Amino acid sequence: MITYHWRKPDFDSVEKVNAGELAQKAMDLMNSFAMLSKNIESRTFIKDNICIKGNQSELKQVLINILKNGIEAMKSGGTLTLTVRKSGGYGVFEIQDTGVGMAPEELDRLGTAFYSLKEKGTGIGLMVCYQIVERMNGKIDVVSKKEKGTTFSIFIPLWDEDY
Ligand SMILES: Nc1ncnc2c1ncn2[C@@H]1O[C@H](COP(=O)(O)OP(=O)(O)OP(=O)(O)O)[C@@H](O)[C@H]1O
Ligand SMILES: [Mg+2]
Repeated sequence: MITYHWRKPDFDSVEKVNAGELAQKAMDLMNSFAMLSKNIESRTFIKDNICIKGNQSELKQVLINILKNGIEAMKSGGTLTLTVRKSGGYGVFEIQDTGVGMAPEELDRLGTAFYSLKEKGTGIGLMVCYQIVERMNGKIDVVSKKEKGTTFSIFIPLWDEDY
């Protein structure tokens, strides 16, 4: 008899991730797209030496998805701000845009499969982000105001328990 053992693939294993370096890489990637031509200014405020417990490539995917949403929310330009800081036992990535914002009903539907207000949106971007962050025992908070903008805060547990 042959027994197959299913193993969680290594590529989504948990590793020590430098939050600031990861954030900078994600922002550089977004800057290299057409972002600046759309009259969008990007800013980063990164506190050094914050190490978190997660998977580097999945976290990068989360940041890129949320940065991309921020850019898409600013049709006529604005400011995209990425902040990395510590809060409680978490490393926090804060992504703020000055875009269209969301009404409370829209906020309630965030992260639901296939919820999209975009012509070509799949509406799975955020759902995947929520799943990835949940698997890392993190959480995502959203604060938004119609016509003012949106702030996503992504909390990922710190690598070092004794912060
Ligand atoms: N920063 C934001 N500002 C305003 N609305 C947002 C923002 N982020 C997400 N949304 C709203 O949430 C919806 C779902 O976002 P999600 O990333 O899951 O899908 P999408 O962006 O529409 O499609 P895709 O990510 O596949 O391109 C968006 O269509 C938009 O209406
Ligand atoms: Mg999206």
